[in-house]
Parts: sequence; structure tokens; C-alpha cells
Amino acid sequence: MNDSSNTLVEYGAVIDPNAMVTPPDTTELELEPGHPGEHDPDYVERRRELFALTRKHRLEALGPPLVAYTAEETRVWQAVSPALDALHRKHACSIYLKGKDALAITQDAIPQLRTISERLERETDMHLVPAEGALPYRTFYEYIAGRGFPVTQFIRHGSHPEFTPEPDMIHDCLGHVPPLMNRDYAELLTLIGKAAATTPHGDQVLALKRFSWFSIEFGLIEEGGETKVFGAGILSSTGEIPHSLFSPDATRRPFVTETVIATDYDPSQMQKDFFVAPSYAFLRRELEGLVKRFSIPVL
Ligand SMILES: [Fe+2]
Repeated sequence: MNDSSNTLVEYGAVIDPNAMVTPPDTTELELEPGHPGEHDPDYVERRRELFALTRKHRLEALGPPLVAYTAEETRVWQAVSPALDALHRKHACSIYLKGKDALAITQDAIPQLRTISERLERETDMHLVPAEGALPYRTFYEYIAGRGFPVTQFIRHGSHPEFTPEPDMIHDCLGHVPPLMNRDYAELLTLIGKAAATTPHGDQVLALKRFSWFSIEFGLIEEGGETKVFGAGILSSTGEIPHSLFSPDATRRPFVTETVIATDYDPSQMQKDFFVAPSYAFLRRELEGLVKRFSIPVL
């Protein structure tokens, strides 16, 4: 995996290793074909407005803007939050639940990311970076290397409150943000960020991307003899939580780094491969081992 001239395969297709290292920039809102909001002019207009506002705040390092959420956006938040919270109480890992309670994220109102960012900064020296949409992987991890977590500030379309084809505020705020209150988690994340932002090799960026996909995004973890959820992609979906833990159509294997970094995935489908880490300390050791093996000078 050390030669970036090797053929790289991602999402089942051959990719250019340089695309991993030199990410493209998207300067205008693009809703993918089939997006539930694509034919709703009010929704598209609101998304354009939030795209411009959050992009400006990101590029000018202004922190998350205060957003006056509409009644419809609040309705969608209220439609999704209670069912997710019930599942979290049963199945989320303790680091997530502690963070969610400490940040006082409620089912009634969409939180202001500016307030949450200030709280995180005091607790773990992390902050939130407003993002106009999903950022390219390496751009995303460049922010994380600087202890900033990029988060969207728009909400999915109200016709399908349980579904979003792209990361939205429900995914970010109810998936990624709560564990940022934990120091061990913050250190694990920033080490992935530093490594991914530093290496010049596309194959190494891809390996780190898969390491984070199968941990931060879709990871399971052992806790007190039970398997709990800590991946944000699982925690922000009422379908993925039971699917990841119980579905006979998914595999749950011990987290073996060699296997994880060689495993491709399809982000547009329910996941079929899950890896169970024995602890955060284990993930930290595995990540440090990988970074050393890749000779990335960030330790
Ligand atoms: Fe995510």
C-alpha cells in the first residue's frame, strides 16, 4: 500500500490517487438527481441561501452563523429526534450519551451550532466549522487536524424526514457532535485528521478514510459485554441502528486494521460490513501503528 502509483479502487471503481490528495471544490449548491427536495423551489432556495451563508463563514473562518430556523425545519427536527433518542438510550455507546446530555441537545428545537461550538471549545478544545455540504475527504480532515469539525446547517427535505441522501444537520448534530465532548475521542479524530492531511500518498489517504469510515462513521464498540453503536452514520438513522446490531444481512467482525483498510464500501446503501472495536484505546493504538507504518510524521 506504499506506492501511490498502485491502482486504487473506491466504491467499486478505479480512482485517480491524486483526487484523494488534491480534492475538488464545489462552489455552487448541487442536489443529486432524485434528491427528495429537487422539485421544491422553496426548499432549493433555502438550501442556496444556507449554502452561501455557511460557505462564506467557512472560508472566512467566522465560525457557525446563527440561523433562524423555519417552522418547517423545526417540524422535521421534531419528527426525527424522539425516535432516534429512544434508540440512542438503548444502543448508543456511553461517550455519545454523556456528550448528548451535557450539550443539552433536545427534541424540541434545532440547536445553534455557535453555542455548541463554544461549549466544545471549553471542554475539549474542539470547535465546529460551518460547512455548506459534504466536503471532500481531505478538506474535511484538514479542518479536523486543526481541531475543527465541519458541520452542515441545513435540514433534509420534509417529505422524507427519516431519509437524507447527504449528510445534513441531523446527521452531524445527532451523530458526530456529542462524542466531541470526550477527550479520547477528540484525540483519535484529530490524529486521523493530521495523518490524512499530511501524507502525500493517495493510497494512504484512502486507507485512513476507510479506517475512519469503519470507526467514526459506521463503527461498533464493545462496552460492558455488549455491542454498542458509536458511528455517526448509524446513530443518525433509525434504520441503521437496528440493522447494524441485529440484521442477518450484515456481518459484524472484530476490528482488524489490515482487513478494515482493504474493505471497500458503498455509502449510498445500508451498510453490510461492520467492525467491532474492543475499546477506544485499542483504536488509538491501531491508528498509531498504521501512521508509523506509513511513515507519516505526525506522532
Ligand atoms: Fe458523517
